Amino acid sequence: MMTSLDPQRRHQLSEAPATPSSAPSLASSPAERLAWVRARYMKNPRDEMFEDAMREILESDASGELTAHPQRNGLVNETRGVLVLGAPRIGKTALIRRNLRHHTAITVTDGKEPGNALYFRVSASPTLKGVATDILRVTGYGQVHARLRSSQIWDMVVSRLATLGITILWLDEAHHMLELPKECCGG
Ligand SMILES: Nc1ncnc2c1ncn2[C@@H]1O[C@H](COP(=O)(O)OP(=O)(O)OP(=O)(O)O)[C@@H](O)[C@H]1O
Ligand SMILES: [Mg+2]
Repeated sequence: MMTSLDPQRRHQLSEAPATPSSAPSLASSPAERLAWVRARYMKNPRDEMFEDAMREILESDASGELTAHPQRNGLVNETRGVLVLGAPRIGKTALIRRNLRHHTAITVTDGKEPGNALYFRVSASPTLKGVATDILRVTGYGQVHARLRSSQIWDMVVSRLATLGITILWLDEAHHMLELPKECCGG
């Protein structure tokens, strides 16, 4: 599933109202107000698009609250993902982080803290095997034998995430995984 961020909509970020609940008081200095504005997440139409996409891949509970449990579909119980696409700096990472955190049933972790949604940033020029090995590393798994095949290490990742109760894997900068290596294509 893809959620594409239309650059034409970017201007709406600055027009959307900030959340008023923690607005600076009248006594705040200009510097404090500026800091507050800079730290704000401005709600925008992409939030709803992302929420809709999440509701198509995750289960909701009886009261309609989104859970961290993936929907399982079809005869093979397959799960699905969401691909968030958009121009550089358009707000992809902020969108995902804000909207995952918005749900009390979802806790984002970088692997060090408990949580059920693992944030992992894919490095430039990765290999599939390297990404899997690094996910094991950040989640505290011991040494991975260098001779293991990529598919074996990914099986270990699935098992490791299940052990830790992690049901959502957020791969930031995942486009790096889709780029063909230069040595393969001479590009
Ligand atoms: N809704 C928003 N409200 C306020 N600031 C935002 C919002 N969305 C993004 N920003 C700010 O815009 C900048 C770029 O956002 P972000 O890093 O999420 O973009 P990105 O698309 O993930 O960038 P990249 O392509 O480099 O990965 C950040 O400083 C972020 O805090
Ligand atoms: Mg980003």
